[in-house]
Amino acid sequence: MLRIGVLVSGGGTNLQAIIDGIVSGYIPDASVELVISNKKNAYALTRAAEANIETCIIGRKQFESPEAFDEALGDRLKSAKIDLVLLAGFMAILGPGFFTDFKNKVMNVHPALIPAFSGPGYYGLKVHESVLATGCKVTGASVHFVTPEVDAGPLILQQAVEVKQGDDPETLQCRVMEEAEWKIYPEAVRLFALGLLEVRGQRVYINN
Ligand code: GAR
Repeated sequence: MLRIGVLVSGGGTNLQAIIDGIVSGYIPDASVELVISNKKNAYALTRAAEANIETCIIGRKQFESPEAFDEALGDRLKSAKIDLVLLAGFMAILGPGFFTDFKNKVMNVHPALIPAFSGPGYYGLKVHESVLATGCKVTGASVHFVTPEVDAGPLILQQAVEVKQGDDPETLQCRVMEEAEWKIYPEAVRLFALGLLEVRGQRVYINN
């Protein structure tokens, strides 16, 4: 059984997609054991509670340094014996120390086709605002393994999404979630649960 821990900050629709993927059997032999939020009002916490998943709040301001915050997150995840950590709209950056225990065991979903519109400062609606301001006709979402460099870890899956003429950042965000994020994130976790992902340098091979 793959024990999953999910880090969240907001609405938790990607968390929901993972929970639904497990409940439906699409993601085999896995369970979300713990949801950690760095924001106490995150709606993702309600979603977790409704699914009977243990939750906890660990905020950056409780700690003197980013390293102490990372250590607290890592300790909590290790004490729950978590095998795979999913960042799902988690709006904090994890430092290098976090990855000693979780190398190639942390995934993130990003709402653009990395390396476009990614890196420090590109998160949430800001990504879609930038896509529209640039006049792109195509955007999408990416799932990748997380490394200390923001949005630069090995890519697992990407899905393109059309930008439509009438789009504003909110309509584009919704389409990217529906057509890409909520599909490729459960799919990446399914492949991990089946042991089909192999990381070689910057590339991820899917052995199916
Ligand atoms: C999602 O669009 C996710 O890709 C994005 O925040 C949103 C969270 O929504 N993450 C980032 O921008 C990370 N760089 P959710 O809380 O409903 O899953």
